[in-house]
Amino acid sequence: MAIRHFLSLMDLTREELDTVIERAIELKALRAQGIATEPFRDKVLGMIFEKSSTRTRVSFEAGMAQMGGSALFLSPRDTQLGRGEPIEDSARVISRMVDMVMIRTFGHNVLERFAAHSRVPVINALSDSFHPCQLLADVQTYVEHRGSPTGRVVAWVGDGNNMCHSYINAARQFDFELRIACPEGYDPDESIVATAGDRVSIVRKPQDAVRDADWVATDVWASMGQETEQQQRLKAFEGFLVDHELMSHANSEAIFMHCLPAHRGEEVSAELLEDENISVVWDEAENRLHAQKALMEFLQENSN
Ligand code: CP
Ligand code: NVA
Repeated sequence: MAIRHFLSLMDLTREELDTVIERAIELKALRAQGIATEPFRDKVLGMIFEKSSTRTRVSFEAGMAQMGGSALFLSPRDTQLGRGEPIEDSARVISRMVDMVMIRTFGHNVLERFAAHSRVPVINALSDSFHPCQLLADVQTYVEHRGSPTGRVVAWVGDGNNMCHSYINAARQFDFELRIACPEGYDPDESIVATAGDRVSIVRKPQDAVRDADWVATDVWASMGQETEQQQRLKAFEGFLVDHELMSHANSEAIFMHCLPAHRGEEVSAELLEDENISVVWDEAENRLHAQKALMEFLQENSN
């Protein structure tokens, strides 16, 4: 066995992803029954955050505690990472002291460099390129509400960003059709789109993506690190609001997801976000906890 990392959804096979999602659903049920699962006694997760977070930090930290372990919050502001200690050196040192590391950073290559020098599993907790933990939670949420995503039609409306890239990987792994509606100039990375073949298409009108879709997802128009582009992006994404009118073009059983935080009135209407007949965003957020617990258990069990 080698060390298993989770830098993108492509690091696990389809069967492994299915196992993790099934286990996430099981861990959620066990927790609801008050039954503790504590395989991580004496285990420590190092959490490196170079960007802000609510859901990711709380879900990883609470998840470790619930599984009998603990988590260390490491910010570049008060570690040597922020003072220029090389990632490779940090990886060699930190991974001799903890059992797993999760990293939220800007460039995806930071994760790759860390993983290449780590003795323990490394988890991508969001990079500029991917957000795979969120997709575990999103797929779990779809499975819970509507069953298998295989063969379904998924519409991504908005920026061709890290979340969009992870939806492309999910389309490959779970074999669904993904229609991406984004304004010109905000397409996902061409090389990532190319990996998905005819499972993924890009359109310019949100309605063309959403028509008869089973699952509609969006995200903020300006991601972390793009704050200075906010005004320009507000203009570019005019007409890309996901609301009840847009959802009326989808399949009548369609559900809406958003990784959160949401900007009401920009990428999603307040009414849609709050409409629990269509919007499953709170379950989606909660599932970060269960999905990551299952992921960490998988990585621990399959690494040496
Ligand atoms: N969806 C998500 O990753 O949220 P946070 O930025 O709050 O962690
Ligand atoms: N695309 C967003 C996702 C936040 C969870 C960002 O990177 O800021």
